Amino acid sequence: MCGIVGYLGKKEKKEILLDGLQELEYRGYDSAGIAVIEGKKLNSFKAVGKLENLREKTKTFQTEGFGVSIGHTRWATHGKPTELNAHPHLGAYSYVVHNGIIENYQKLKKELQSEGVNFLSQTDTETIVHLFEKYHKQLNDPFAAFAQTIQRLEGAYATLLVSESAPDTIFFAKNGSPMLIGFDGDEIYFASSDTPIIGKAKEVYYLEDGEYGYAKSGTVKLYNNHGEKSFITQALSLDKILAQKEGYRFFMEKEIYEQSRVMGETMMGRVLDDRVDFEELDAAFFDGIHAIKICACGTSYHSALAASYLFERISKIRCNVEIASEFRYKEPLLTKDTLFITISQSGETADTLEALKMAKRAGLKSLSICNVDNSSIVRESDAAILTRAGIEKGVASTKAFATQTMVLWMLALHMGQHKQTVSQEVLNTEIAAMLQIPKALIVTDALHEKLHRLSKRYLHGHGFFFIGRDIFYPLALEGALKLKEISYLHAEGYPAGEMKHGPIALADSELFTVALMPKTMHYDKIKSNVEELSARDATILAISPEPFELADDFVQTAYDTHPMLEFFEMMVVTQLLALEISVRLGNDVDMPRNLAKSVTVE
Ligand code: M6R
Repeated sequence: MCGIVGYLGKKEKKEILLDGLQELEYRGYDSAGIAVIEGKKLNSFKAVGKLENLREKTKTFQTEGFGVSIGHTRWATHGKPTELNAHPHLGAYSYVVHNGIIENYQKLKKELQSEGVNFLSQTDTETIVHLFEKYHKQLNDPFAAFAQTIQRLEGAYATLLVSESAPDTIFFAKNGSPMLIGFDGDEIYFASSDTPIIGKAKEVYYLEDGEYGYAKSGTVKLYNNHGEKSFITQALSLDKILAQKEGYRFFMEKEIYEQSRVMGETMMGRVLDDRVDFEELDAAFFDGIHAIKICACGTSYHSALAASYLFERISKIRCNVEIASEFRYKEPLLTKDTLFITISQSGETADTLEALKMAKRAGLKSLSICNVDNSSIVRESDAAILTRAGIEKGVASTKAFATQTMVLWMLALHMGQHKQTVSQEVLNTEIAAMLQIPKALIVTDALHEKLHRLSKRYLHGHGFFFIGRDIFYPLALEGALKLKEISYLHAEGYPAGEMKHGPIALADSELFTVALMPKTMHYDKIKSNVEELSARDATILAISPEPFELADDFVQTAYDTHPMLEFFEMMVVTQLLALEISVRLGNDVDMPRNLAKSVTVE
């Protein structure tokens, strides 16, 4: 979730790069950097934190005449947000910027290290520049070396490389991460989305996966695995906000679609062949820990609640979850054998932060699960695991919830390994399921269209009940929260088995029940709970892999082999349902009334 810009031409390069990065800052801002080659001279600057720090650092630097230049703004995934980990990454005479993940970077890194290459950063990106220089030494042809480098990369990437070995050229490649080329006469621009080049370039070409090439002397040579390729440019849109949404109507919609991809980043380097590993936690981290307490708010509280089932079931450790604002004033009994976990997308939620401070004062070991490195909660915690969701702009949290839940599932297994409560067989099954999650999160056109059509039937009534059991109960809570915050319709999440203890009194045809009916978890139990509601004429929208006769509406899910696969697939259905209802009601999906993305007051 980083941003890339590049420019080749005669204009002032520093300003073009910094302005471009400014437009991409919404994607990530824990560090930024630029590299410029003019004549044969290579200059580079990096700064941690917001872009203004890089501006300050480059205040006296100016470019003149023709040159090539690349820039990057980073949202930390591999390694801390330090200058060394900031892009551009340097070889001996070349610089690279990159978005995405090089999945085989550990293998490549080992190979290069064994040949004497010294790595400065913890990133996967740095392998690209060293590979390039290795092949350049062998082939003595910069483009051939770049092409050879690209052949070696596995995973998703959009990358730009400049080198003193070809000081008038920018090399580029794209596979799985977005990248485009902008044109204005001889001036050539690169960017990871439209916004940095709007108002600068007139025409644009959106690179396709597998394409690579170079820009030189005002022209671009493009290749794919069939050889050189011609391409047709198109006029560039002029609407920046539209461009930031990358073709989606709302940031929330974009973020729902992104979940499949970001989940790969969440798991990267952590979900290994035969175990789950967190380099953030040292081996002794769980020593002396006999219980877990989790504090969080809103959506993050729901992921915590789901995790409490997983910790007890998988890691066999007592786990108790509290809403942070309640925890703060209840004079809780805290014992030092309890690991205190906070969960927060922003890392700045006041109630969660204060709960953490209380736990620290009581001498508890703390761990935060957070999407923003260097945030207050991360800084305050003994250890932190980043969810790597990338910036979330929609107030209604989607990919943050998905990645938090994933990290917590991974953590439950990791603890289970440590406490030897999971067999290798169970571990293998869980890992196999984890690796399928990105696929389960893909939003198909058919699913989205179905939810769009269904939504028109759910715009009135006197309320919604989302019901589920076990981990599907927190998912029901989350589905209800999504709906209420962006549709302004009343919705409640409830444990399915609890409806008969009171809420069923509300049942009539105007009570909408969204029933989460996983095949792999208490199917018969929830089925009879839904039958009870149906018998009282409640309108039922069932979500299940198993066709359900009594449903008024039915969304059939595909996965029926593992509860977490069902969980994530159903999560997407509830998110799309909320989105489509909100759109039909004409609400502001991304900025619902009365809400803020980060709640920094009590
Ligand atoms: O940043 P946090 O995760 O700490 O925020 C906590 C809640 O304010 C947040 O999860 C909120 O409930 C969601 N944005 C709702 O979609």
